[in-house]
Amino acid sequence: MAYERTGAVKVSDHWLRSPLTNINKACQTCHRQEEKELLARVELIQDRTAALKQSTEKALTDAIDAITAAEKAGASEESLKEARHRYRRASMRWDFVSSENSMGFHSSQEAARIYANAIDFGRQAQYEALRATPAR
Ligand code: HEC
Repeated sequence: MAYERTGAVKVSDHWLRSPLTNINKACQTCHRQEEKELLARVELIQDRTAALKQSTEKALTDAIDAITAAEKAGASEESLKEARHRYRRASMRWDFVSSENSMGFHSSQEAARIYANAIDFGRQAQYEALRATPAR
């Protein structure tokens, strides 16, 4: 957070707002780039992370659809255990990054790694549900 001076005391600015509303104070003590350049870099990171988030959500909803279809086709609870387990692993990872609330900015590489894992587990869940679906 940006720092403020109150008399002789230096305190951090703890207004609950994005530090991007005050790039000069919040960022340029360390970063010498132009404000415009810093903002563009942040937006690029956030756009790329948002695209991975959407791919994760597509994998999650496809997995739910496959599990629901398997249930309707008469798959047993036991045969769907693996699909549900993998779905939970995907969903937990989606939640972990999404609720962190910086859209990848605080750690873009880690956010991408976790979404990649989530997409993988989501598609595995979908595959396991298809495998559990009884043939007609
Ligand atoms: C206390 C110093 C400090 C402050 C304040 C700070 N940063 Fe940084 N920032 C760093 C350091 C150190 C790195 C890592 C640099 C590296 O790994 O090359 C970094 C990395 C970054 C990166 C990633 C660079 C890249 O291209 O991947 C961006 C973007 C960034 N900061 C933007 C900001 C913005 C916007 C703010 C204000 C909201 C801010 N920083 C505040 C020190 C700071």
